[in-house]
Amino acid sequence: MGILSRSSVNRQSNETMRLLITTFAGIVFGFLIGLSFPTLSLTKLNLPSSLLSPVDLSNIKEQKPSPPITQTSSSSNQSLNLNDTTKIWVPSNPRGAERLAPGIVAAKSDFYLRRLWGNPSEDLTSKPKYLVTFTVGYDQRQNIDASVKKFSENFTILLFHYDGRTTEWDEFEWSKRAIHVSVRKQTKWWYAKRFLHPDIVAPYDYIFIWDEDLGVEHFNAEEYIKLVRKYDLEISQPGLEPNRGLTWQMTKRRGDRDVHKQTEEKPGWCKDPHLPPCAGFVEIMAPVFSREAWRCVWYMIQNDLVHGWGLDFALRKCVEPAHEKIGVVDSQWIIHQSVPSLGNQGETQNGKAPWHGVRDRCRKEWTIFQSRLTMAENEYFKSMEVGLSNLTAH
Ligand SMILES: *[C@@H]1O[C@H](CO)[C@@H](O)[C@H](O)[C@H]1NC(C)=O
Ligand SMILES: *[C@@H]1O[C@H](CO)[C@@H](O)[C@H](O)[C@H]1NC(C)=O
Ligand SMILES: *[C@@H]1O[C@H](CO)[C@@H](O)[C@H](O)[C@H]1NC(C)=O
Ligand SMILES: *[C@@H]1O[C@H](CO)[C@@H](O)[C@H](O)[C@H]1NC(C)=O
Repeated sequence: MGILSRSSVNRQSNETMRLLITTFAGIVFGFLIGLSFPTLSLTKLNLPSSLLSPVDLSNIKEQKPSPPITQTSSSSNQSLNLNDTTKIWVPSNPRGAERLAPGIVAAKSDFYLRRLWGNPSEDLTSKPKYLVTFTVGYDQRQNIDASVKKFSENFTILLFHYDGRTTEWDEFEWSKRAIHVSVRKQTKWWYAKRFLHPDIVAPYDYIFIWDEDLGVEHFNAEEYIKLVRKYDLEISQPGLEPNRGLTWQMTKRRGDRDVHKQTEEKPGWCKDPHLPPCAGFVEIMAPVFSREAWRCVWYMIQNDLVHGWGLDFALRKCVEPAHEKIGVVDSQWIIHQSVPSLGNQGETQNGKAPWHGVRDRCRKEWTIFQSRLTMAENEYFKSMEVGLSNLTAH
């Protein structure tokens, strides 16, 4: 609409120029029309159809849902609707959309970019099957540029900007076809919960939800996907280097294989070799989810627990059997560079550096998440009249 109204103003000012040559009254007249014209064009869709070109009209007709056949006054009385054949009520529609004919319900969406002109069916030259998101600050642009180049044209690229800087990224050629979401000082899991709803990312076979500080020299995304498919991994991550300083054995890269799904930890850390941190476990810095696994994990992400700590230990709740469907891809590996970028976006409190407060919050969230999950499961099993004694420790 913005483009449309601007051009009509231009056209109008040309006319005004012609009027200007004739009389002063003409100037005033043209000025008044010039003022009113943008308003007119904003309401263009409400103009009589005779003012629209045939092409415009047909497009609008195509997009507009068919006029509601039903307009129920008492929405609570559904039995009435069922009986009335002039009204629509489809219980199998998505919740809230029962009054729509199923043929018009678009329950899922995507991140495919479209044109403003032409035939909608010819907009898309390709439909990427994979999605990669990075949560970024502009300071990490070189690293992100290198990372994005490891993802082929088969990937939709989505950047979450936590520092409010977006247009600067246009120095990179790929930036113009990327999706940019800019919300200040939020975390990867905050964005994921809000912008990666399973129905929005439904066309993607695999979803990469990555940090910005990963070194990707030894990583190729297409090769990675091949391995994930081959080894049937619903949730995965690339192996991590360097080995020193890493917390978990599970996510360390093994030099002698494609994929591993199990590991040994320090004595006493794993009561059950099929449970985290020895199996069924990847970290939250570079996870990759299948569409089905993400549909479950998204529901487990809590709106207020923005750092995602504890999520890694709970991912196994979403796939079955977890010790076979969660694993680490060793032959496509990454380097964790540990740049505490978002940590520095915190606030100084009691004279402590910002990252202290962020780290404390991370730990607090971990505890809260853990107890919420335990309580929810306890309640569930209680409601199923299964004794608490039957619950496993985890
Ligand atoms: C629904 O409508 C029927 C018939 O008008 C009426 O008998 C019934 O009480 C209504 N039920 C509710 C829940 O409003
Ligand atoms: C509902 O359908 C039944 C049987 O088809 C009919 O007897 C009844 O009159 C209908 N009620 C309304 C409110 O249409
Ligand atoms: C993109 O996907 C297609 C279809 O799966 C495949 O043939 C092509 O090789 C992929 N592109 C790259 C760069 O791997
Ligand atoms: C625990 O589970 C078993 C079967 O799995 C069942 O027979 C038993 O009644 C359960 N115990 C309680 C307290 O519900």
